[in-house]
Amino acid sequence: MAQSDGRVVIVWAMSVLGLDIGTTGSRAVIVNDAGTVLAGATEPHAPFESPQPGWAEQHPADWWRAARAAVARVVADDRVQSHDIRAVGLSGQMHGAVLENDADEVLRPAIIWCDQRTDAECRWLRDTIGAARVIELVSNPALTGFTLPKLLWVRTHEPQVWDEVRSVLLPKDYVRLQLTGERATDAADASGTLLFDVANRCWSTPMLEATGIDATWLPAVYEGPEVTGRVTARAARDTGLPAGTPVVAGGGDQAAGAVGMGIVRPGTVSATIGTSGVVFAATDRPVLDPGGRVHTFCHAVPGRWHVMGVTQGAGLSLRWFKDTFGAGPAGADDGRDPYDRLCDEAAGAPPGAAGVLWTPYLMGERTPHLDPHARAALVGLTASHTRAHIIRAVLEGVAFSLRDSFTVCAEMGVPVHRIRLGGGGARSALWRQIQADVYGHQVEILAAEEGAAYGAALLAGVGAGVWNSVDDACDAVVRVRERIDPDPEASACLSEHYARFRAVYPALHPRNAHAR
Ligand code: XUL
Repeated sequence: MAQSDGRVVIVWAMSVLGLDIGTTGSRAVIVNDAGTVLAGATEPHAPFESPQPGWAEQHPADWWRAARAAVARVVADDRVQSHDIRAVGLSGQMHGAVLENDADEVLRPAIIWCDQRTDAECRWLRDTIGAARVIELVSNPALTGFTLPKLLWVRTHEPQVWDEVRSVLLPKDYVRLQLTGERATDAADASGTLLFDVANRCWSTPMLEATGIDATWLPAVYEGPEVTGRVTARAARDTGLPAGTPVVAGGGDQAAGAVGMGIVRPGTVSATIGTSGVVFAATDRPVLDPGGRVHTFCHAVPGRWHVMGVTQGAGLSLRWFKDTFGAGPAGADDGRDPYDRLCDEAAGAPPGAAGVLWTPYLMGERTPHLDPHARAALVGLTASHTRAHIIRAVLEGVAFSLRDSFTVCAEMGVPVHRIRLGGGGARSALWRQIQADVYGHQVEILAAEEGAAYGAALLAGVGAGVWNSVDDACDAVVRVRERIDPDPEASACLSEHYARFRAVYPALHPRNAHAR
């Protein structure tokens, strides 16, 4: 359709909006019924504050500011007609604790997913309830990043705040409250609180009773595509969205991101390297690792679950190397993306990095060690090694660490027929090949990988009836662009190195490794 100023505006009959409340920013995307992204906008958040080592806090009001701005930008985009937006889907960083009083006022900064202050509270949970009983009730062990230990920390250390708490929300659900006035969450995000009966998809009464948390403080739980409320007149003024637009439950960022990559049925598994690295497998029942080495959570797909292995310092390892040692030899800055330069440099070293190994435990480790005190190591250096060997070792070490998650999946009998790569690790040709070689498996690259906001948009589309089911949505829009096979020789060499990699953590952390 041509406008009077000569611009051509394409009018789509139906579209949906996905909104992801991440750690570094809020991202909004508008997606049409063919799955095409019509508009996208990201608004940065203030960096998280760390008032003490290992602490991480953000201000919920800043999330809402950024979310409002990102939504307003996409809604105002020329390619979008706001009245065509049929529904909104939310996703967000998981595990955070937003505490409010009875007037909906935020009582303290949110303690977010990567905060590590709750070692003592996790120990208390294991000692008073029993480690095995915790897993039996909520399908996961007590981990420092999860929500419940944060609540217990506030109860002990900030009793004056605790006395006023009347509501506990996850990060994206705080934004939902601003958008719709409703307190609601989804089963996938609730799974990361340690208060949720993952097998039965409801809050765990025994866990609430054992820890003295008031059930009335928790939001109502919905499945990912279910409508939880509608955009209020006030939020409509703030965002440009039509008042009354339905807002579906959506999902925690990992589950929503998996929907966007078509990881919805057993057998197709993703390996995503962002700051952290995640291996994500959908399952049709809750599958537990008795040691709790991988998380068992509800999926954003109704009636499905997933297992998820997490490496804390994946992309972070390469960023740390760049920030500490530079993106290239002094004076060689040619203006290209620093990560491209690092990967080109690493390509000069052979598979196996001539014996150099990197264990990426810069932020402790979740899978498989469950050890917030694990530390990274660079092992096997000689005088003849160069930067190229070390960078290659970093790329391989991150892939080895993700292979640990595949190893746990194999031990649990979780099928892995196809592996899809996502995040920054899918953008580098070298890292893609290294992953195929380390996993010893063909890997797939998608035509479009738009992250969690895209998955949230697909969930909104299902809620609005654009697609009949999440499976249908993924079948309609997710396309594989490229398949990469492992190189047999490199793969055999890297398998030997993986065995050496697995020996490093027990050698450096004998007490913890022995304890397991
Ligand atoms: C999932 C997890 C991260 C956060 C932040 O367990 O900790 O994905 O949700 O992105």
